[in-house]
Amino acid sequence: MIAPMLPISLLLASLVAATPQPAIVSERGYTMPLTRRTNPRVFASEDEAGVWLQDIANKLVVKYNGTITPSDTNGSPSKRAQGTNLLVNQNADSSYYGSLAVGTPAQAFQVILDTGSSDLWLLSSNCQRGCAAVVPFDGTSSSTFNNLSTPFKITYGSGAASGYLVQDVVQMAGFQVPKQTFAVVNSVTSDLLNSPVSGLLGLAFQSIASSRAVPFWQALVQGGAWDQPLMSFVLTRFGNQARANTLEPGGQFTMGFVDPTMYTGDIVYTNIPAGQQSYWLIPMTGISVQGVPVSLGSTGPVNVAIDTGTTLIGGPSSAIAAIFAQIPGSQPGSGNTAGYWLYPCKTQVTVALTFGGQSWSISPSDFQLAAVSSTTCTGAFFELNMGGSAPSWIIGDTFLKNVVSVYRFNPPSVGFANLSSTAQGLSNINAPVPTPTLGLSPVGPGGKNGGKNGGIDHSWNIIQLAALLSALAVGALNVLV
Ligand SMILES: *[C@@H]1O[C@H](CO)[C@@H](O)[C@H](O)[C@H]1NC(C)=O
Ligand SMILES: *[C@@H]1O[C@H](CO)[C@@H](O)[C@H](O)[C@H]1NC(C)=O
Ligand SMILES: *[C@@H]1O[C@H](CO)[C@@H](O)[C@H](O)[C@H]1NC(C)=O
Repeated sequence: MIAPMLPISLLLASLVAATPQPAIVSERGYTMPLTRRTNPRVFASEDEAGVWLQDIANKLVVKYNGTITPSDTNGSPSKRAQGTNLLVNQNADSSYYGSLAVGTPAQAFQVILDTGSSDLWLLSSNCQRGCAAVVPFDGTSSSTFNNLSTPFKITYGSGAASGYLVQDVVQMAGFQVPKQTFAVVNSVTSDLLNSPVSGLLGLAFQSIASSRAVPFWQALVQGGAWDQPLMSFVLTRFGNQARANTLEPGGQFTMGFVDPTMYTGDIVYTNIPAGQQSYWLIPMTGISVQGVPVSLGSTGPVNVAIDTGTTLIGGPSSAIAAIFAQIPGSQPGSGNTAGYWLYPCKTQVTVALTFGGQSWSISPSDFQLAAVSSTTCTGAFFELNMGGSAPSWIIGDTFLKNVVSVYRFNPPSVGFANLSSTAQGLSNINAPVPTPTLGLSPVGPGGKNGGKNGGIDHSWNIIQLAALLSALAVGALNVLV
């Protein structure tokens, strides 16, 4: 079965070299003149912006065009606990990755954390195409490795990744699943991963897993490993900071609890409609622009996918048009910017999404995606017309940066809460990039709580970290037997 699941963030990561200097050459060989103003992505021409924008849109369509196939269950009991994984923000809010470890002794990897898909996959040490720049997984050096040898393939808009299914121990944030099924990928048709990211951890439900395996998080929660049956994300914002580095602190991912220092007020939950546990799909009841309600293009609420692995927000054409109709001087893009809308950069646009009775605002700087000229910008909402059983809206990081998002297994629901000042302080350009964590506290080459490595070259220390993590893992683990 082929179920395309790649988050667009991976594509963004390979196309957008988000440093303040112009003329960045990506791994794909595109030369992308890129200068920062108050907003990060200024393209030399509308065409260049358009190529980038179209790729984003295509990846998203493909990702959400997978087949949903219910499968078996798994999981077993263990101690209850909580875990925190510090994240890295890659390429000015394009993607957010965390760390996990696989095998015995443990090998550490950086993986995109994606609530919009359900498979774990890593590049293999046998990788033959498209994988040179990242740390691969080597099954032969793990004593707990079990090669299932089942072919696995994921198809993207412009390529594919393929390999086979394996099992091994997977550890993250102090938790462990001894026989996690995941894919090792040995062929990738284009540069889908941007160093230091080696793969992807899907955090949605098993029903949409290409591998049909019980996802790592679901094995833990079904096994009773967590204090509370939920996970949460706080995502940082660096896209609006002119001097942001390629890698910046990304916020945090928690399992088994929500960090009370990260939010104020209540976490307001919206239930997933009965039987719809696939993506994290919840009904959205309204959208407003500058305080004015706009039509969602349907009567009643629409089910939207809440997706940390998607950078932007996609919705039906009619609704996107209705949003921009509230912004004077806006117009639909054409050619390579088709599917996006252009508007005057000087307009501060506040869009709010309503779930249940509660509205949550998106900051104007998150709304403003990229400048295609000195006065014209593209918005972070784009037209997504997939039809079929795919969600009509994908709510990605453009929104999720503005809240604490909580993904609750039981009762199945997604919650949002206002960010505390502590959480907002994580979007601080002077902070060190977190180093990978396995236990409850960060670890890294600088010792506990990590070294200051300046935020740019995060890949140099992977090998070191692998050794360090395997040494530190044992004491911190809550083993799921
Ligand atoms: C696992 O099995 C696949 C398919 O048979 C094979 O290509 C691959 O080399 C094996 N990997 C290891 C590490 O044994
Ligand atoms: C979140 O903050 C906004 C703005 O301060 C406020 O209006 C809203 O009531 C808060 N929501 C919750 C659930 O606390
Ligand atoms: C979705 O997949 C079906 C068949 O798998 C294909 O015919 C259709 O064109 C795809 N839609 C999009 C928008 O990619």
